[in-house]
Amino acid sequence: MLSEFVKVATVADVPDNSMIGVTAGGEDILLVRIGDEYFALDDWCTHAAGMLHEGELHADEFEVECPVHEGMYDVRTGGVTMPPPEEDVAAYAVRVEGDDILVGPKG
Ligand code: FES
Repeated sequence: MLSEFVKVATVADVPDNSMIGVTAGGEDILLVRIGDEYFALDDWCTHAAGMLHEGELHADEFEVECPVHEGMYDVRTGGVTMPPPEEDVAAYAVRVEGDDILVGPKG
């Protein structure tokens, strides 16, 4: 469980319209960059064992596609936008401080 903000990457690690997998507080996290906006979700698809950072980013729709059965989530909220997943993935807050990208609890 992520209880505080943790540095997970630098801005240079995440080119525009791309995503990487990182870990923080024992969690596997998907870190997405679209333009100058960053989003972080739980990296594990809720359907089966897909790791979302190995899937495809649809930047225009703010969606990530799972590599296993093509389920999709909104990168802004973690909400399912395309089955087969039925459960949303957790979303985290992202902060940029200088060149550092930090991920922490939402809200
Ligand atoms: S494991 Fe992700 S859609 Fe099935």
